[in-house]
Amino acid sequence: MRILVFDSGLGGLTVYEKIAAARAGDELIYAADDAAFPYGALAEAALVERVVGVAGELIAALAPDLVVIACNTASTLVLGPLRARHPGLPFVGTVPAIKPAAAASRSRLISVLGTPGTVARDYTQALVRQYAGDCDVTLVGAPKLARLAEEHMKGAAVADVEIAQEIAPCFVERGERRTDVVVLACTHYPLLAERLARLAPWPVDYIDPAPAIARRVDQLLGPPKAAPSEPRSGPALFTSGAPSAALAEALRRFSLEVRTIAEMTATPVLTAAGSPR
Ligand code: DGL
Repeated sequence: MRILVFDSGLGGLTVYEKIAAARAGDELIYAADDAAFPYGALAEAALVERVVGVAGELIAALAPDLVVIACNTASTLVLGPLRARHPGLPFVGTVPAIKPAAAASRSRLISVLGTPGTVARDYTQALVRQYAGDCDVTLVGAPKLARLAEEHMKGAAVADVEIAQEIAPCFVERGERRTDVVVLACTHYPLLAERLARLAPWPVDYIDPAPAIARRVDQLLGPPKAAPSEPRSGPALFTSGAPSAALAEALRRFSLEVRTIAEMTATPVLTAAGSPR
């Protein structure tokens, strides 16, 4: 099976790595629309047009068996249009994990940390009404956190104070109660997991949806054919062209090699079994 994992930038790597670890026998391709990063800053109509266009080109060129939209900002808006445009092709989206957060919270004070776009969506507000009606939910649109995660991945020094400022509104106290669960509603944020834990004013459970997304892929494609093993090397495509040497190095930690779409389609891509596709 060929699985395409798509995001605006590097956040989808947090999802890619869980799927790659679980499905060693499948062929994974990572694609980042970094030319349009950050999606969180785009108006809704522009974002729909962009994602439907770029994902459509990738689907036409690569013929995946399943597409993971590893981006909350896009998934909360474009899953409907994508499914309408590609009937029969399964899409797995990434949407704020509000249901498990409400189930896990003891204080009934939860926060949803996402891009300004994601927290403003009707989709997100509907999840809050449907699953967290008995919780006090604080929606936090972080203007810079996805970009800080990108800089961190590219090897730049990101000051603690910058991260602390972005997450501060998530931590709410109401009398004796205080926030105990924070939904990471942007796939970039788990790239900063260690720092998010260290910079929290008090300990909270951060919910990273990546394991649930990997399980959803298994539900749709069936159990993996090969036993879990070290992920095989896979290709990473960037709409901006070639990423920096520092980023190419960081991608190797995810067993990804930078390729172009032209290379991907001109050369036969090897399947897990080693035979040309
Ligand atoms: N990774 C994306 C998400 O999950 C957002 C980053 C961006 O603003 O492009 O929402």
